[in-house]
Amino acid sequence: MSIISMFYTKANIRNMKLPTNAVFLTATLFLIHSCKLEKKEEASLKPDGKTIYFERCTSCHGIDGKMGFGGAKDLTASTLSIDQIVNQVTNGKGAMAPYKNLLTPEEIVAVSEYAVSMRKK
Ligand code: HEC
Repeated sequence: MSIISMFYTKANIRNMKLPTNAVFLTATLFLIHSCKLEKKEEASLKPDGKTIYFERCTSCHGIDGKMGFGGAKDLTASTLSIDQIVNQVTNGKGAMAPYKNLLTPEEIVAVSEYAVSMRKK
């Protein structure tokens, strides 16, 4: 066997390995990618409390929660528990209308969690 043909054979073997590696790499990348996609989908399934707050609550409570329009209470000074807030947003109180027919229970929990997050740290 001449040196040239030995080299040629080695190169051939190397070339044969390449596609296998490439397939493996592609499969791995695809797996990582689909994991990321799954996480993203999960995140978008949970309602975004901040968006709901800006759509439904700022007219009385303001962006910072302190506006107090029509006697709306300062949310940053609220001492209500998350359950009490969920209950108040669901059923309303005084000048604040109930949201049970406007938002899903998941959306009410999300917006209530956002209201709690506005408190002074
Ligand atoms: C029409 C105006 C109005 C809108 C819109 C409104 N609120 Fe209110 N909110 C009020 C008023 C008025 C009160 C005080 C009620 C009372 O105690 O008599 C209040 C009280 C609250 C309280 C209780 C605070 C405390 O410590 O007692 C929370 C929490 C609250 N609102 C959250 C929300 C959230 C979340 C939204 C949006 C989903 C919202 N509000 C939309 C008027 C409003």
